[in-house]
Amino acid sequence: MQRNITGLILAGVITALALAAMNAPAGAGADPKPAFQPALPLERLMEGQGQLYKHLKEAVLDGKAKEARTYAWILAELANVNRQHAKSPRYDEFASTMSRECARLADLLKGRDTKPGVPVVSEIGKVCESCHNEFAKKKE
Ligand code: HEC
Repeated sequence: MQRNITGLILAGVITALALAAMNAPAGAGADPKPAFQPALPLERLMEGQGQLYKHLKEAVLDGKAKEARTYAWILAELANVNRQHAKSPRYDEFASTMSRECARLADLLKGRDTKPGVPVVSEIGKVCESCHNEFAKKKE
């Protein structure tokens, strides 16, 4: 009986030590990434998104696949940054959808033909609009 209790205590101590080791502050060789912080206020980010979306649309309509792909990639990443500004799960969902659609568009633009990208550009535009309808302040 006494041995069983000692064994239990020992097992408890070992478990506690193992858990402490798992939670210990990371030392050398730890992940060097700082916690993510957006560099810009949301308004500036949106100005950038506005410009890039315009360029993206023009490039797709003008058949400039390589240029359009770069804009689509950057917009995918900016939408990912916009997730950091999420005010609710719904906001995050709009931003995630935009990011995903932009990445999908970039993928579609792998070839020289930009025509298959045209409907996706419109889809992306609808996501911008939906989020603005719910979350952007009305400016008179
Ligand atoms: C997940 C939400 C969300 C998505 C998606 C989104 N926006 Fe916005 N956008 C906002 C919010 C919120 C504002 C209002 C920001 C403010 O002024 O406080 C805004 C404002 C803007 C503005 C006005 C900026 C200004 O000067 O006040 C532009 C331009 C803009 N967005 C472009 C876009 C474009 C283009 C897309 C799609 C490619 C897009 N946004 C997608 C949330 C979003």
